[in-house]
Amino acid sequence: MNFQDIDLAQIAIRISQYPTDDKPEFLILGRSNVGKSSFINTLVNRKNYARTSSKPGKTQTLNFYLIDNICYLVDVPGYGYAQVSNKKQEKFGLMVEEYVKKRKNLKHVFLLIDYRHKPTDSDLMMYDFLKYYNLPVTIVCTKYDKVKKSLKEKQNRMINDTLDIALGDEIINFSSVTKVGRESIQNIIEKYVKNESNS
Ligand code: GTP
Ligand code: MG
Repeated sequence: MNFQDIDLAQIAIRISQYPTDDKPEFLILGRSNVGKSSFINTLVNRKNYARTSSKPGKTQTLNFYLIDNICYLVDVPGYGYAQVSNKKQEKFGLMVEEYVKKRKNLKHVFLLIDYRHKPTDSDLMMYDFLKYYNLPVTIVCTKYDKVKKSLKEKQNRMINDTLDIALGDEIINFSSVTKVGRESIQNIIEKYVKNESNS
């Protein structure tokens, strides 16, 4: 894979609208404004293909981005944003839950948390939820560029201590500004894609 091609191939709310071409899928999860769209753009070296915004809560559907015609990155609404009404948040929650529970094509989840802060209760709940369904997860700490070098060690420790990471899962620091972490994420995706084509 060279991570050059991106195409918003499908937008879905219901199962019947998911892609039918049977490719591996990678879910991008995280709070509103954590950097999900920026993460996708960075992986494919684009500035603003997946729409980023300073106004949280923009994404309201499951967005299936086809990468190199090989696999999908699935961008979903962020959780835990107060300015989005509870009713809407509930609806998004159910939509994401249905996808996580039922989608066989889902291979791996990238759970994005903000490197600058202690993981929130909703971050921890989301991680538990994913582990309940036995999904392999990578914790991606976004906005790594925003923390001063002298504070990074403390921050790493705090994140490690707060999250009770399951065996096999890992934490990767990431920045859409400096691109740190990009290659590690691409390697994870490629590993699954290779496994799929061998099976
Ligand atoms: P929603 O779709 O609303 O849930 O947000 P999102 O998770 O897709 O976040 P988005 O990528 O739109 O980024 C939100 C804001 O954070 C934007 O202003 C981005 O430019 C900024 N941002 C995202 N990632 C980084 C990063 O690694 N470093 C810095 N400095 N800013 C970032
Ligand atoms: Mg977004």
